[in-house]
Amino acid sequence: MHYTIAIDGYSACGKSTLARAMANALGYRYIDTGAMYRMVTLHFQRLGVDLADDEAVARALEGIHLDFVPGSNRALLNGEDVEDEIRSMAVSSFVSPVAAVSAVRRSIVPLQQKMGANGAIVMDGRDIGTVVFPGADLKLFVTADLETRTERRLSELLAAGKNPSRAEVAANLLERDHIDSTRADSPLKQAEDAIVLDNSQWSLPDFIAAGMAEVENLY
Ligand code: C5P
Repeated sequence: MHYTIAIDGYSACGKSTLARAMANALGYRYIDTGAMYRMVTLHFQRLGVDLADDEAVARALEGIHLDFVPGSNRALLNGEDVEDEIRSMAVSSFVSPVAAVSAVRRSIVPLQQKMGANGAIVMDGRDIGTVVFPGADLKLFVTADLETRTERRLSELLAAGKNPSRAEVAANLLERDHIDSTRADSPLKQAEDAIVLDNSQWSLPDFIAAGMAEVENLY
């Protein structure tokens, strides 16, 4: 079967780890929609776009091409591999205000819908089960407590050679969650038919097994 699987949830709660593992196990394509908003953010930062300037936003969006390297899934902004740069704190600090701009969402969401049009896809983000694919075959809503999320994001950043403080990482996660949940356009919220997976106390294999068990329930 060529299911469409939507995974939403808060920042750094393991959505993309789960999504990637499920896509691998099922032989599906994985799309990290957060990476798409991060690429737009980097593009805007490079151009110095003022988010209050509608024309500058529209112009910047016209000159943007977002893609992923097949296989590795590294983020490609106008053909340039920006995977490492989009994970920086500089991008993390600006991405939620950018993603709250309706013009940005209007240009990105159709692209995501096109990428997933044939099914056999696992897509993770904030509005996949509510806006991008409201008719998804399976919707998972992932959560974890703040301490667990901070710890995980901090180790990722340290492994990538970055050196933010724990307080800075926690503050960024909380701030993004707040902006993402309270924005007017496509706020982060659990779809009514989503299944909640709280992985604070789970090992990674147990978390992935819980996600896969929900796929098996579809058959
Ligand atoms: O998933 P990740 O944490 O990389 O996403 C970065 C940011 O992109 C989120 O904090 C959110 O502001 C935005 N985003 C969004 N809608 C999505 C995916 C991400 O608004 N579907």
